[in-house]
Amino acid sequence: MKTLESKTAEETLALGESIGKMISQGLTIALKGDLGAGKTTFVKGLAKGLGVSKDYYITSPTFTIINEYPVPPLTLCHLDLYRLSSADELEYIGFDDLLDDIHVMVVEWPDILKDISFPFDIEIRFEFDKNYNRRISVSASGQWGKNLLNKLFL
Ligand SMILES: Nc1ncnc2c1ncn2[C@@H]1O[C@H](COP(=O)(O)OP(=O)(O)OP(=O)(O)O)[C@@H](O)[C@H]1O
Ligand SMILES: [Mg+2]
Repeated sequence: MKTLESKTAEETLALGESIGKMISQGLTIALKGDLGAGKTTFVKGLAKGLGVSKDYYITSPTFTIINEYPVPPLTLCHLDLYRLSSADELEYIGFDDLLDDIHVMVVEWPDILKDISFPFDIEIRFEFDKNYNRRISVSASGQWGKNLLNKLFL
C-alpha cells in the first residue's frame, strides 16, 4: 500500500493523472471514501492522464450510474453506484460485458459489489484527516495492479 497526504484538489488531480498515464490496458479501480472526499476529483485527473479529450467535461455519474469516455484503443468508464441497492441492478448497465482488456472501470461507492465479492485490481481509499486534508491510500491485488503500484511514485 502507498499513501499520499493530499492538501489540495490539485494534488489529488495530479495523483489521478500520474496513474492515468501508467494505464495501457483495461482494469478495475475502486474508489472508497466519504462524500466530498475527492473521488470524482481523482477521476478528472485520471481522465487527463489517460488522454481523454478536453472537449469532455468529467461530471459525476450519480444519476446516470455510468459515464463513458473514449480514449482509443481504451474506454474510460466512470461509475457511481451510490444509488444502486443491489448488485443485481448492474445487469442494466451491462457491467459484466465491460470487464475486459479495453475498459478502464473506475467505480465510486463500490460497496454493493461486495455481494458478489468482486476483485478490483486497485483500491483507493480517501479519508479526511484532522486538518481536513485527504489521506489517499492506494493498494493493489493481482499482478497487473501490483506492477502499477510498484511503479507509482508518491
Ligand atoms: N485534497 C483534496 N483532494 C480532493 N478534493 C479536494 C481536496 N481539497 C479540497 N477538495 C475539494 O473537495 C471536493 C471533492 O469533491 P468530489 O466530487 O471529488 O468528491 P467525491 O468523493 O466524488 O464525493 P461524492 O461521494 O459526493 O461523489 C471538491 O470540491 C474539491 O475541490
Ligand atoms: Mg463523486
